[in-house]
Amino acid sequence: MLFLALLLVSAGLAAAAPFAFPLANGFPNLNATTLQQVEKLAGGTLPNGALPSTLTPDGVQTLQLIAANELSEVAFFTQLLQNITSKVPGYHEGHHPYIIDTLTAVVAQEQVHVLSANGALANANQTTIQPCQYVFPVSTFESAIALAQTFTDVVLGVLPIAQSVFTADGGEEAGLVPIVGSIIGQEGEQNGYYRFLQKKVASSAPFLTGGAPQFAFSAISQFIVPGSCPNINVIGLTAFPALTLQSTPQAANSTLIFSVSGPLNAANATLVYITGQNLPVSVPIANVSSATNGSTTFAASFPFDSGFNRGLTIGALVAGAGKTFNNTAEVAAATLFGPALIEVD
Ligand SMILES: *[C@@H]1O[C@H](CO)[C@@H](O)[C@H](O)[C@H]1NC(C)=O
Ligand SMILES: *[C@@H]1O[C@H](CO)[C@@H](O)[C@H](O)[C@H]1NC(C)=O
Ligand SMILES: *[C@@H]1O[C@H](CO)[C@@H](O)[C@H](O)[C@H]1NC(C)=O
Ligand SMILES: *[C@@H]1O[C@H](CO)[C@@H](O)[C@H](O)[C@H]1NC(C)=O
Ligand SMILES: *[C@@H]1O[C@H](CO)[C@@H](O)[C@H](O)[C@H]1NC(C)=O
Ligand SMILES: *[C@@H]1O[C@H](CO)[C@@H](O)[C@H](O)[C@H]1NC(C)=O
Ligand SMILES: *[C@@H]1O[C@H](CO)[C@@H](O)[C@H](O)[C@H]1NC(C)=O
Ligand SMILES: *[C@@H]1O[C@H](CO)[C@@H](O)[C@H](O)[C@H]1NC(C)=O
Repeated sequence: MLFLALLLVSAGLAAAAPFAFPLANGFPNLNATTLQQVEKLAGGTLPNGALPSTLTPDGVQTLQLIAANELSEVAFFTQLLQNITSKVPGYHEGHHPYIIDTLTAVVAQEQVHVLSANGALANANQTTIQPCQYVFPVSTFESAIALAQTFTDVVLGVLPIAQSVFTADGGEEAGLVPIVGSIIGQEGEQNGYYRFLQKKVASSAPFLTGGAPQFAFSAISQFIVPGSCPNINVIGLTAFPALTLQSTPQAANSTLIFSVSGPLNAANATLVYITGQNLPVSVPIANVSSATNGSTTFAASFPFDSGFNRGLTIGALVAGAGKTFNNTAEVAAATLFGPALIEVD
């Protein structure tokens, strides 16, 4: 065993250790001094107004999902910054003082976002979310920035849903709506920069692609080391099994190939796209082919020219043939496999 491990290490094949908290400054547990240091790097402070003293169950779930997501972002950006500053091969494009200053601010800002969501939960005597261990499927600066853009797109799709939840309550949670709005703008500023670094048009589309809590939870779950979360299950969401995009999407009407692990019946499934703030678009699936290992591949048309967004489109495979939906919540409720995060330009 030891010999094999040494062999793997010397061949450079050992898997990188998962990212684990706490950070060097003690985060997620900051004292007054370290909080002040983080806020200084973040460029601003936690909101200092009164927080709701009670939360609805939907409000609790929403804040817990936001906290879980922001924790995963703290892990990601801390590791990215470490990779750049410790000169990990593949990260040389990040060796620019402006990039390091920006990512340093982002790491601090994401910490403050976590403290804000967990603080609102604690203030209402609800369970705060503790960090897990994380592994990110990237090993170059370029792929890390592309991933940062993609998960930020997913967050930008779901935070407006959080605002709807807080508004629907009609009570004290309404005070959280402008706070979440300010986070949406902040994540949008970040994403313009990640797009710029990839030489993409800085602002992708007039109305960003929507989402659903289940899709956001599924997306972050892919970075979590199974079994490493002290209490993420309190959120009450379950990750969908993956819908994997096998082809490179084009900004044109085309065909995409997807795969899932498990059997599929073309006569009993529909692929649904969520793009912009439009009604979901449903297409049939075709050419279903099962491999001996149990994975199933299929094709579906990608009608990009019928008004799809530049940037993120979410794909989901739902149960039933010829299914149509009026909103993203209905799509998520019917999803079997997803989300496929389809980035075009
Ligand atoms: C605050 O936390 C930091 C980091 O854990 C520690 O070095 C420092 O002594 C603490 N300060 C106080 C006043 O507790
Ligand atoms: C940091 O680099 C390690 C080693 O290449 C890699 O495994 C990890 O995914 C990278 N993390 C990020 C966020 O770039
Ligand atoms: C907070 O929650 C705990 C456990 O659910 C309960 O025992 C306690 O009474 C609550 N405190 C307040 C102030 O509601
Ligand atoms: C179609 O899918 C639904 C939901 O997964 C399932 O209940 C039903 O048995 C399936 N029907 C056929 C004909 O495969
Ligand atoms: C199963 O087989 C297919 C086709 O050979 C392959 O593309 C896929 O990666 C395999 N999946 C797993 C989980 O091994
Ligand atoms: C399915 O395969 C057939 C034969 O190769 C092809 O003509 C057709 O375009 C494919 N359908 C899709 C949606 O890709
Ligand atoms: C793209 O596909 C859609 C849906 O099938 C169709 O309505 C539209 O005419 C196509 N556009 C182009 C430019 O081919
Ligand atoms: C979608 O909305 C239309 C128009 O309001 C309605 O007729 C239809 O039943 C709705 N579909 C679903 C699945 O709720």
